[in-house]
Amino acid sequence: MMTEHITIENYLPQIGENRMRDEIMAGLTARQKYILPKYFYDTVGSELFEEITALEEYYPTRTEKQILSTIISDLQLDMENKSIIELGSGDPSKITLLLKQIPYPILQTINYYPVDICESEIIKSVDSLTQEFSLRNICGIVADFHHQLHCIPKDNCRLFCFFGSTIGNFSMEEAQRFLNNLSAVMNPGDQLLLGVDIVKDISILERAYNDSKEVTARFNLNILNAVNRIMGTNFSLDDFYHKAHFNKELSRIEMHLYALRDMVIAIEDADCFIEIKKGETIHTENSHKFTPERIQQLCDWGGFSNYRISHDPRKWFGIVYATK
Ligand code: SAH
Ligand code: AVI
Repeated sequence: MMTEHITIENYLPQIGENRMRDEIMAGLTARQKYILPKYFYDTVGSELFEEITALEEYYPTRTEKQILSTIISDLQLDMENKSIIELGSGDPSKITLLLKQIPYPILQTINYYPVDICESEIIKSVDSLTQEFSLRNICGIVADFHHQLHCIPKDNCRLFCFFGSTIGNFSMEEAQRFLNNLSAVMNPGDQLLLGVDIVKDISILERAYNDSKEVTARFNLNILNAVNRIMGTNFSLDDFYHKAHFNKELSRIEMHLYALRDMVIAIEDADCFIEIKKGETIHTENSHKFTPERIQQLCDWGGFSNYRISHDPRKWFGIVYATK
């Protein structure tokens, strides 16, 4: 038997180009210039991220997968008639690991909804899962999880998955707002699996974000291509270099693009210029690394009073399991 219903819904047009331009403009005119990390994930950026996940230095993906490969039996999850909602789903390899643990007759009772801002990733993921599994329903949702959680189907019995420690890419305020919003759309009994990267030796962290093949550098620089497309700017990738460092006080890896020369960048259809000085940086990403206290704080923000954490043997990564 095949998956019965396969659809893709795109809610991004409801956000509109103007909002994206305003967001980018706000970042490029701030005292510390920044570009929001969601702009990494155009088709090329998503492919580069997948390349990162296979790097020897980038431990988070393989470590989280180690935990995920037995999570259904470890947590004794009853998957019958579940609707799985995977936020920021990216490539389907993590959900595949989870689905592989579920017996065939139960798979046929499951709905799967990947939610991602990158349409090409949603299309690839829906295609691949349709080939591999017979689920009841697969519906890809192209949406921004910061603004469009209301687009998530209101099925009974939902398992929300937010893997990869993507929550670590949020500022504390964003994480609080996101978990509040997520909690508000969850019904009593709905469950959450939340991947969190754990604080560890600085050299391991910095190596993971400054890899020797420079794939992370290409991923970071590629964000300027997205900005050029949206803003009609002419940033040259050769005018910047990538560097990531661990900010111990804020327990986060920070990725920046460093300007190699002074430049003045014109914005299309706007009467203004962006001035960047040699040595100045554009801050493109934070990747928070969590302590048990910080994890507790995330759960408090979501109103999840009862939660468990599954770890890999080295305790490098954790998956929080909470029920609403
Ligand atoms: N969950 C996958 C991918 C993590 S990369 C893993 O664990 O490997 C982060 C993912 O979140 C990307 O697929 C990216 O496209 C998506 N994403 C980033 N910002 C988003 C946003 N605002 N709304 C929806 N998806 C977003
Ligand atoms: C998606 N996110 C959790 C990744 C991270 O580790 O913060 C993105 C990434 N940036 C550089 N390498 C990987």
